[in-house]
Amino acid sequence: MIRAIVLAAGKGTRMKSVHPKVLHELCGRPMLWYVLQALRAAGVDEIRVVTSPELELRIGELGVAGVVQPVQRGTGHAVKVALDELPPREDGRIVVAYGDMPLIPEELLRAVVASLGPSREGPGAGMALVTVKMPLPSNFGRIVREGRNIARIVEARDASPDELEIDEMNAGIYAFGERELREAITRLKNDNAQKEYYLTDTVDDFVTRGRSVLPVLSENHLDALGINDRTELALARQEMNARLCERHMRDGVTIIDPATTYLEPELTIGRDTVVYPNSAISRLSEVGEGCTIGPSARLSNAKLGAGVTVRESVVIDSVVGNHAVIGPYAHVRRESVLGDDVRVGNFVEVKKSKLARGVKAGHLAYLGDAVVGDETNIGAGTITCNYDGENKNPTVIGGHAFIGSNSSLVAPISIGDGALTGAGAVVTRDVKPGERVAGNPARPLPKE
Ligand code: UD1
Ligand code: MG
Repeated sequence: MIRAIVLAAGKGTRMKSVHPKVLHELCGRPMLWYVLQALRAAGVDEIRVVTSPELELRIGELGVAGVVQPVQRGTGHAVKVALDELPPREDGRIVVAYGDMPLIPEELLRAVVASLGPSREGPGAGMALVTVKMPLPSNFGRIVREGRNIARIVEARDASPDELEIDEMNAGIYAFGERELREAITRLKNDNAQKEYYLTDTVDDFVTRGRSVLPVLSENHLDALGINDRTELALARQEMNARLCERHMRDGVTIIDPATTYLEPELTIGRDTVVYPNSAISRLSEVGEGCTIGPSARLSNAKLGAGVTVRESVVIDSVVGNHAVIGPYAHVRRESVLGDDVRVGNFVEVKKSKLARGVKAGHLAYLGDAVVGDETNIGAGTITCNYDGENKNPTVIGGHAFIGSNSSLVAPISIGDGALTGAGAVVTRDVKPGERVAGNPARPLPKE
């Protein structure tokens, strides 16, 4: 059984924020979310997050159990607080990670567990940890080696000038045999510059007792980027975005300019879709195959079929059928459902409306709380007057209807299949199928 302890009780003073540091977001998810995802993907069975009292109030949002460390007395103390809560397991293995490292890849977590060896016959090594080559200067703990073996970790604040020259750092990801960790934790002392109980002092403890501490060297120092302030948060966001773009490009999506394309995790984008610059795709959006997104498109919880075009437009909380064309400059929002081959563009707003196959609303219209039948044409300047000052009222328009330019459809109202409204009609009463109305208020036109 592999259990993980994630340390996240630190104050995060340098964020200068009322929110706990690990809840600050990059690419639409809190940084802690990424750490939890990576741990789960790496096969960890159970996770405990060590929290401050403030973070404890919100940890449930992430679907994980917290344990409060009321006063921050160091990373070693934080691990002890979590261990005191976890029922002991003789053959257990414990992964420790810090909650402010959103770029940790699951492979590194797997590697550090794997190098500990199998649990059945007792862990081969007592301890394994991730080390990383970093540009100097750096505040990370330095890995002091004797020969090829790790001898100890020295925190930057406690390091000698020679030790500060070491460019191999402690990433802050560890795996331990549980029994040995429990013993080592009780022996930690706080005789250092910060008067804290350092988890990193367990290395010296293991080595002194003749146990080996195995390093797992990470190739990319960004993997271990610990976020302490908002400039590092921006750097991590940029890197995460680049990784998300890369993943979709490898899966067959063309992204013309990853630097100006904003993506979030858990998106689906079909192959041969092309994303043009300055586009943002967020909140569990699903984009079909062969779509054209952007330039300057915003999709938020949007579900798009195949071959859809969305350029210079916004689609939020809505569903769009195959080969629909949206934009330029359209705003499709909240619970709208657009059928196949629909066209909306040029300053058209659609809210909570259902447009059947082939509906066209090309210019300057507002369709709110409306249902429109297939192939109906909505003229330029058409407004569904859905709000009477108190209630939102529905408009129902049949199929193959023709709504003339500048029609005002005063809801609640129903317009039949194949009906026609003249330009500038103010329609206040229901229109029968095939009927033609015009004027203000609109009246039936004489039969031709
Ligand atoms: C720590 C490591 C350092 C490593 C670096 C990597 C120690 C002593 N040092 O230093 O070797 O190179 O991370 O980023 O571990 N926390 C608690 N409770 C506490 C103290 C800290 O939960 O009492 C949490 C913090 O919220 C944070 C993590 O532990 O998520 C690391 O603490 P931090 O103070 O940032 O340690 P560093 O000085 O960065
Ligand atoms: Mg830190």
